[in-house]
Amino acid sequence: MKNLYRKFFTSIFLMVTAFASVHSQEIIANVEGRHYLSLNGKWQTIIDPFNQGAGNWKPIWKDQTPVSKTDFYEYKFDSTVTLNVPGDWNSQNRELKYYEGTVWYKKTITFKKTNNKKIFLYFSGVSYECDVYVNNEKAGSHEGSFTAFQFDVTDKIKNGDNSIIVRVNNTRRVDGIPAMNFDWWNYGGITRDVYLVETPALFIRDYFIQLAKNSKTEIKGWIELNEPTVKKISVLIPELKIKYNTQTDGSGRALIKVSGKPVLWSPQHPKLYDVIIKSETDSVRESIGFRNIAVKGNEILLNNKSVFLKGVNIHEEIPQRAGRAWSEADAMQLLNSAKELGCNFVRLTHYPHNEHMIRLADKMGIMLWEEIPLWQGIQFTNPEILKKANRLLDEMIARDKNRCAIILWSLSNETTPSDSRNQTLAAMAAHARSLDSTRLITSAFNHVVYDKNTVTIEDPLSESLDVLAVNEYLGWYSPWRAKPEEMEWKSLYNKPLIMSEFGGEALSANHGLADVLSSWSEESQAEIYRQQITMFKRIPFLRGTCPWVLIDFRSPTRMHPKFQQGWNRKGLIGSNGLKKLAWYVMEKYYKEIENK
Ligand code: GCU
Repeated sequence: MKNLYRKFFTSIFLMVTAFASVHSQEIIANVEGRHYLSLNGKWQTIIDPFNQGAGNWKPIWKDQTPVSKTDFYEYKFDSTVTLNVPGDWNSQNRELKYYEGTVWYKKTITFKKTNNKKIFLYFSGVSYECDVYVNNEKAGSHEGSFTAFQFDVTDKIKNGDNSIIVRVNNTRRVDGIPAMNFDWWNYGGITRDVYLVETPALFIRDYFIQLAKNSKTEIKGWIELNEPTVKKISVLIPELKIKYNTQTDGSGRALIKVSGKPVLWSPQHPKLYDVIIKSETDSVRESIGFRNIAVKGNEILLNNKSVFLKGVNIHEEIPQRAGRAWSEADAMQLLNSAKELGCNFVRLTHYPHNEHMIRLADKMGIMLWEEIPLWQGIQFTNPEILKKANRLLDEMIARDKNRCAIILWSLSNETTPSDSRNQTLAAMAAHARSLDSTRLITSAFNHVVYDKNTVTIEDPLSESLDVLAVNEYLGWYSPWRAKPEEMEWKSLYNKPLIMSEFGGEALSANHGLADVLSSWSEESQAEIYRQQITMFKRIPFLRGTCPWVLIDFRSPTRMHPKFQQGWNRKGLIGSNGLKKLAWYVMEKYYKEIENK
């Protein structure tokens, strides 16, 4: 009976703490451009399947050790039980391959405090939700696997040894984003970089510096201090001979507006400029590219020239580790493959990827689509969803708004049209534009009307978008209603279209008949691509294509014992790293476009 009471009170405690949990503050921009200590490496761990450690019965966050002869605790952090951070637990420990629950992490660090400095604990990503404790005192909580967050721990960190304990839980939630069902592995853990960041007491917290929407020479934006105070600010772009002096207003914010003649960033010439932002007490160095992105009728214009987005979808996963990607080396592997395919564009599915991906795309000249994981079955009738979705938009845009490679913010993936969904997504589109008016807004949807050889785009979501994006699987999930060379696409909206997903499955090195899908053969997958490309050439308002997907990826929903074994096999590259026949079909199509 005692056990039941314990569970009941534990669950009440959890609900109260979860509701009252402190969402993190607005993040520090460009954390690697600050003074930081990396907390990457081995963390001690305790697996807590019933989440008991969060309560008062076995308070793991207190990290107690026996003192008297009668003390005993049924848990202990031990240096023999560790996990690498960054990293998902599923691919590090066979017992945790399918694990959904709580794992406790602990890191002990020695720190020497400096007077008049602030200290922040910054997490680049923790999947799915977490509570963070510093020296056994709650620092805060965060929900959402793919956005960065931080806590001010200036008063919690002390000179000498400090203990950082994190409760991580990846259990899917009905009110989660994503929710209960999604087609990728439910990785759990501290899956991205962790930093202890030291700043001056008064520092440059954030900034947004971009080319004005319709100008090639006006550089606009703002700088924000961490305190509401009037201070001198200067922005230097030495290569453009710009030294712009201004000052913040009483809210600690300064607007920037300065003329310059930057070489415009493009895939052919991904020019980035050193930008130094100085205040009276702080200085931050950044690397920023200047470009315009706009739509005009059904054209997408990069620097006022029509561009076709030769894209590919990429999940944040490294197949040879069968785990989450997180490092610059991982980003290099994935983006180099996209470049090799002939891409000038990548859709980062289905969530914001680690910052290394975005910063590397800036350098490599790869345009990006970034989205939050509002994927299929979302509880749009729950008013909390709009708040949570807008918070994830805030966090995604806060981190990446200075990255010129990003040309599209995307709201959702394959959500079912309804009044609540249409209203929620329209409100999110307005919110995203209020945060960043320089980029385009899109959202991938799959409710189009098939009627014999005609496909019509009429999803009302389109009214809120600058660029339409359709996921269609003609030749795989849905049969061809007519020959590809007879297909006609119509749209109720005079807007550009990206075919944001298409393709089919094949097991690498498995060969068979091209017209038998159940063969899972490379030939049948390649035939789907040939048919799709035949159709693409007949869509006058098509401005981009993104095959689903660059590389096979792990998914709990793909359980064919011979062809899938827990992998989605739609990759152009197999989980064995080998290119499939479909890769060469797509590569040829992109070469033809390039040479047009
Ligand atoms: C959907 C979805 C993807 C999924 C893919 C598939 O369109 O957007 O996340 O993996 O189809 O079924 O393979």
